[in-house]
Order: sequence, then structure tokens, then C-alpha cells
Amino acid sequence: MKGMFAAGNGPVQISAEAIAKRVQELGAQIARDYQGKTPHLVCVLNGAFVFTADLVRAIPLPLTLDFIAISSYGNAYRSSGEVELIKDLRLPIHGRDVIVVEDIVDTGLTLAYLLDYLEARKPASIRVAALLSKPARRQVEVPIHYLGFEIEDAYVYGYGLDRAQFDRNLPFITSLRPEEE
Ligand code: IMP
Ligand code: MG
Repeated sequence: MKGMFAAGNGPVQISAEAIAKRVQELGAQIARDYQGKTPHLVCVLNGAFVFTADLVRAIPLPLTLDFIAISSYGNAYRSSGEVELIKDLRLPIHGRDVIVVEDIVDTGLTLAYLLDYLEARKPASIRVAALLSKPARRQVEVPIHYLGFEIEDAYVYGYGLDRAQFDRNLPFITSLRPEEE
């Protein structure tokens, strides 16, 4: 049987090729900035798992990697800003040069919570790599040092991001029309 990956009809469409090119650029930039250091990447599950897998292979430096899982309450699609820790870090970050790897920064509430949580553990430095950012919906200011793509306000999915838990396996990023959300 022939499989098929279906794109949505929304305004944001980013091809697998465009993503791959941008991820290579971000990896090269991180490698330059962390030359001589050993960065510690923290992948924010679940959405950032595909981005992280590609990004680490674009950073030709010795690095370590850990995972944290957080969940924001809200409906299936949008977060409410109330954040719950689902899975904690396994490795210490004290004194480490931490790079948080996020799929998307929307209101910024999840990332703001996470940065507070991580900073309390006294890393040497902390930066953020985010594949996507929707500045139109920002409620709190958060730093993004390495950004893949700035996008307009549409619900996006694919390349690790879900649509009601499905479609994380799409190799591209696609979106819904506003009336479909
Ligand atoms: P924020 O707290 O509003 O910035 O939202 C952060 C989290 O909500 C992201 O890490 C995603 O997991 C999820 N999210 C926000 N917008 C989208 C979207 O358009 N598609 C998929 N997930 C999203
Ligand atoms: Mg996320």
C-alpha cells in the first residue's frame, strides 16, 4: 500500500529541504559560538524531538544531551500558560553551558517557566534554540538565541509538532487555516 503525508491548507508551509538547510545553519552557528566548550542540550519533549535529532548532528562539537518533558494545560491545540513538569532532567546542569531546544515559542509562557526552572540550578550559561516563533502571540518576553523560522499566527504541525497527537511524523511543517483550529 502506498503511504502519503498530507499537508494542511494553512498559510505556513515549510518544506523538508528548507528545514534541513536552516537546521544546518543553526548547527554551524552554535558550533562557532561554543568552540572549545562542551554544550549541554536540553530537548523539550515532546515536540522538539525531531528538531533535536537533526540539530545535534549539525553541531560538530563534543556535547551532551538530556530531555525534559513539560505539559501546558489548555485545549488540544493551545496552551494556557499553566505548566506541569512531566519528566525531569536526569543529568546535572550546574556549571554547564545549557542550550534549551524548543519546537515553538508561542505565548512564551512555557519557555519562561522552563528558564526559571533551569536557572535555579545554576548553569554556567543558558541559551535557547527554537525551531519556530510566533511573535504575534507573545505574552511574556523570552530570549531566543538561535531561531529557525519566524512564522505568522497559524496552528502548525509536522516535524515533531503534533495536531492532537498525530502528524509528528510529517517530514515538513504545515498548518491549518484559522477556521480549522
Ligand atoms: P507557549 O507556552 O504558548 O509559548 O507554547 C509553547 C508550547 O505549546 C510549544 O512548545 C508547543 O508544544 C505548543 N504549541 C504552541 N503553538 C503550537 C502550534 O502551532 N503547533 C503545535 N504546538 C504548539
Ligand atoms: Mg514544546
